[in-house]
Amino acid sequence: MMNIRSFLAFSLLALAPLPALAQALPRIAALYPPGARAGSTLDVAIRGGGLDGAREVVVNGGGLSVKLNELNIKVDPAEQKIFQAKCALCHELRGPANISRTADQWVATVDRMIRDKAAPIEAADRAKIVSYVQAAARASAGLTARVTVAADATPGAREIRVVGANGSSTAFPFVVTTEPETLEVEPNNAVDKAPLVTLPQTVSGQVAAGDTDSFAFQAEQGQRLVFNCNAYRLNPGSQAFFFPVLYLYDEKGRELARNNGYFSLDPLIDWTAPASGRYVIQVRDMLYRGSPGSIYRLSMGALPYKTYLFPPGGRRGETVAATLGGENMKAAALSVPVAADAPVGVRQVSTAQGVFRFVAGDYPEFVEGAGGEAREVSLPVSINGRVLAEAEEDRYSFKLTKETLGAYTFELFADRVGSPLVGKLTLRNAKGQSLATSEGTTAARDPRIDYTFSQEGEYTLEVTDAARKFSEAHVYRVSAGPSAPDFAVTVSPDNPNLGPGSSVYVSVRVQRRVGIRGDIEVTFPNLPPGVTASPTILRADQNQGFAILTAAADAKPGSFAIGAPVAKAVVDGKTLVRDAIPYEILRINNNNQLAPRTNMVVTIGPEMGWRVRIEPGAMTMSPEGGPVEVKVRLERNGSDGDIPFAILGVPQGIQAPGAILFKKGTNELTFTMTPSNTGVFAPRGANQPPGPTQFLLALINGREGEGMQMASPAVPVTLALPAPQK
Ligand code: HEC
Repeated sequence: MMNIRSFLAFSLLALAPLPALAQALPRIAALYPPGARAGSTLDVAIRGGGLDGAREVVVNGGGLSVKLNELNIKVDPAEQKIFQAKCALCHELRGPANISRTADQWVATVDRMIRDKAAPIEAADRAKIVSYVQAAARASAGLTARVTVAADATPGAREIRVVGANGSSTAFPFVVTTEPETLEVEPNNAVDKAPLVTLPQTVSGQVAAGDTDSFAFQAEQGQRLVFNCNAYRLNPGSQAFFFPVLYLYDEKGRELARNNGYFSLDPLIDWTAPASGRYVIQVRDMLYRGSPGSIYRLSMGALPYKTYLFPPGGRRGETVAATLGGENMKAAALSVPVAADAPVGVRQVSTAQGVFRFVAGDYPEFVEGAGGEAREVSLPVSINGRVLAEAEEDRYSFKLTKETLGAYTFELFADRVGSPLVGKLTLRNAKGQSLATSEGTTAARDPRIDYTFSQEGEYTLEVTDAARKFSEAHVYRVSAGPSAPDFAVTVSPDNPNLGPGSSVYVSVRVQRRVGIRGDIEVTFPNLPPGVTASPTILRADQNQGFAILTAAADAKPGSFAIGAPVAKAVVDGKTLVRDAIPYEILRINNNNQLAPRTNMVVTIGPEMGWRVRIEPGAMTMSPEGGPVEVKVRLERNGSDGDIPFAILGVPQGIQAPGAILFKKGTNELTFTMTPSNTGVFAPRGANQPPGPTQFLLALINGREGEGMQMASPAVPVTLALPAPQK
């Protein structure tokens, strides 16, 4: 019997011991400042590794235009002389080389010297000094880009990548806001030397090793002020190296409050001034560590936080009577019209408290009232609720009759509408026994249950917060209705870079949600010229596979293409199409965390240190044909050491080594694949469907999450299957 489940199963664990070959991985460690207000233009510093030869910036989403500034900025010596002569009259020269501020901030500084300090500077010299300090600032900042944010740009996060000599970088978040934003100005370490800021204010800052950033402010007795620090929420990757803490001091330097880890790792202080006076708020790393990626945005003032919109969704064609509320604000009523032709799914609603995400649905609405008892609903339904008390279990009961039995999907929206709820769904029968349960994962934080009911009766859906947290902002929405065939596909890396004539491995994972039994085919419609993808088909019940991208020898370094792969499945003669979700693997404390990205950028990078290929370029195998010799040729372009490869794709029923090692000095190896009468070659009965007739054989170096996995081109191996038994 052929075991379809184990067909083509290969273990990624087998790859664990293989060291990756050193290569320059383009990675953005920080954008600074990490965001900008709609309608503004500013220079943003780009820090990272492997970014040399930066030529272009790729941004997802609209409303943002980003252009790299020229790298070899030359300062005009004549302008520099004027700066030196005029700006050294009262104090030693304070130029851009040791202070970080934006081009606009430099204009303001020069004007302040003229206006407030009566610096004797004529208009013509002012222009030259401004031009000099701006150029010198850019020259000392390294790689910078001029970012122009459209006045009507939608607030929210974007992803920015740099394409350079080593290919496309990882993505880094950049936030479009509606708040005024300033940059911290060093030196501001000492509490007694903290610069005075006017509230409300949002400051962007960067914490260096040993650095503390202090801001002084004036408060009136009884004034309630909130200090809300965004770091982890800005860039989840920063959790590997940045633990921001907030300290609040009085004028004498006595500590009044401190916080860390309010919103996940991000701190928040909600404080009422005991007396009128001058106070200081300070940001630093818990362990006094610092790096270019230790970036934060600190909002200060009588600001609301934990804001929410409830209910977080509504039915198409209806107007929702919602409440806009939060801490440190008065709740207000808000009508949200949902157009009859609005697309079903998450959209954005602008409010006085910023932009909220809101779900448009098609089912009748149910809004949770007070009380924790089971509430009766009938399917299909869109349930809106929240977790308001510790360990609260919100229960919704429903009845199914003979006519309404069948497959149903319960899909929770919390993370996707900006709620802090860590959603957990449990489906129970009338006896209270659990039939199915689902919790969010790092890749998809909102849970979902697909369940087929075969017995009529009463059932209960239970919603809880898996982290046992609660608040008015812990809102959720569950869409509960008949299941439609559905699947999801993820691919990684999100930035495959490959040299001319080389190949790179892309992992493909499938989540078969409802009704998808057959093959899922993944294609790459957006590849740069000269790059081809191996055919990628995940067979029935195979949920993990790979694609190999190969660049022609004459592919042009620097060319790139943007766009996600596309996955197709056929159900009842109809083709279902899904965009694959590319993700970056963040290696955090020896664990892989998946960061979903909105696009994949495939780039032709520099020539690789080696190339490997399998010969012959196509093979046929059958139990009668016996063992097949596979030859592997390595072309070393200056890589002299040992180079290991994992052998991928070999299905059950064929014996082959898991890995091969090219010892220093060897450039040719062979290994043997031996067919048996099991697995793919297992005899099958006359009524059994034929098994797959091909697999792809490939070699890869390195392991997932630790850089590009360079590969051999994939070679098709045709399986001559035994005739069905009579
Ligand atoms: C007439 C005297 C005078 C001249 C000329 C002058 N400054 Fe200043 N500057 C000051 C004084 C006083 C301070 C410190 C007090 C303060 O910051 O308000 C200062 C502070 C500064 C600071 C630190 C405070 C900040 O805003 O970051 C910078 C930078 C600076 N000056 C740059 C310049 C530049 C550039 C020029 C040339 C355009 C210039 N100064 C010319 C008097 C002068």
